[in-house]
Amino acid sequence: MRFSTLGALLITTALNLVSAQDQVSTISNQTTPLISNYGDSFKNTGGNVLNDKVNVYIVFYGNWSSSESQAEQTTFMNFVNGVSSTSWFSTLKEYTGNDGNAVTGPLNVAAGVVDSGSHGLTLNDSDAHKQIIVDAVNSGYLSATNQIDSDGIYVIMAGNDVQDKDFCHTNCGYNGYSDQFQYMFIGYPGTCSESCIPPPINQTSPNNNPAIDAAVTIFSHEVQDILTNPRKDAWTMDANGTTIELGDFCAGLNVPEDVWFGNMQQTDNNAKYNIEIGDQKYLVQTIFSKNKKQCLLSSE
Ligand SMILES: *[C@@H]1O[C@H](CO)[C@@H](O)[C@H](O)[C@H]1NC(C)=O
Ligand SMILES: *[C@@H]1O[C@H](CO)[C@@H](O)[C@H](O)[C@H]1NC(C)=O
Ligand SMILES: *[C@@H]1O[C@H](CO)[C@@H](O)[C@H](O)[C@H]1NC(C)=O
Ligand SMILES: *[C@@H]1O[C@H](CO)[C@@H](O)[C@H](O)[C@H]1NC(C)=O
Ligand SMILES: *[C@@H]1O[C@H](CO)[C@@H](O)[C@H](O)[C@H]1NC(C)=O
Repeated sequence: MRFSTLGALLITTALNLVSAQDQVSTISNQTTPLISNYGDSFKNTGGNVLNDKVNVYIVFYGNWSSSESQAEQTTFMNFVNGVSSTSWFSTLKEYTGNDGNAVTGPLNVAAGVVDSGSHGLTLNDSDAHKQIIVDAVNSGYLSATNQIDSDGIYVIMAGNDVQDKDFCHTNCGYNGYSDQFQYMFIGYPGTCSESCIPPPINQTSPNNNPAIDAAVTIFSHEVQDILTNPRKDAWTMDANGTTIELGDFCAGLNVPEDVWFGNMQQTDNNAKYNIEIGDQKYLVQTIFSKNKKQCLLSSE
């Protein structure tokens, strides 16, 4: 059988949150070249954003059977379910759709499922990703009605046994859409740590697992894009032939670390982090504030 329930307990209740900004002092005022070149012209091109409550459905694809993998699921879901209560998330509320409704959250992990590899362990294109999501919806594990949630976000989190044509080569994760839904794909960052694990957490990381901690960092990028540009017709622009979405402004190996991550704290184990959700620490990338023309770790 391909589909199975999560080993980790699915989070169903709201979590207490200690937001990072209690412990973070000033945030760098440096701007990235993208901000100085394109910050003023970044506009809504006519589409809507994901407003109000957004259900997130997670498909853990591949082999997630070990106890370590189950701990990874918990770490990842705790972040996704709690992040919309942080002051980090508040910067996203600057972004409004054509209908006047802004990103507000909350994000809510509605369901998760393990698919051990219904479409093989070598994925070739976005059609395969979309089909994995449709099959997960039809499996009955994501909702009682097997209906697609067009206002939700579907996440494929690939395991360490999954290869993908573009992952590690042209991306570490990406967001896309079909007629009926929007989704993101995140590869297992440990597969190509030099490309997909950010340097500050590539040796020690806040949850003692650089790969899943990097997956969270990648999610912190993709969720900016998917919330503000779910159907690729809202907050997006062409920058001399390259498409820029919100998450692109503040991240990248050429971006200074204090811009990319704001003011990082350090755990007792010397792992860098910049946000806390419940009792777990994470490293998120910053968010471009169009109002302040800066990469912000906190809206306050
Ligand atoms: C940025 O901060 C530095 C010191 O922290 C300050 O000297 C400088 O004027 C600031 N620049 C801007 C554009 O705010
Ligand atoms: C999944 O991974 C675990 C631990 O890495 C391994 O013991 C197990 O054999 C794998 N299962 C499959 C079906 O590959
Ligand atoms: C993906 O492409 C590889 C190489 O062309 C092929 O062997 C494999 O069967 C393809 N996988 C799927 C699921 O189509
Ligand atoms: C971590 O990143 C630094 C900077 O890019 C690099 O020099 C180092 O080799 C990386 N370490 C690991 C374990 O990947
Ligand atoms: C875009 O490319 C053109 C032609 O190469 C160049 O003149 C222009 O400065 C570029 N614009 C930006 C904002 O980089």
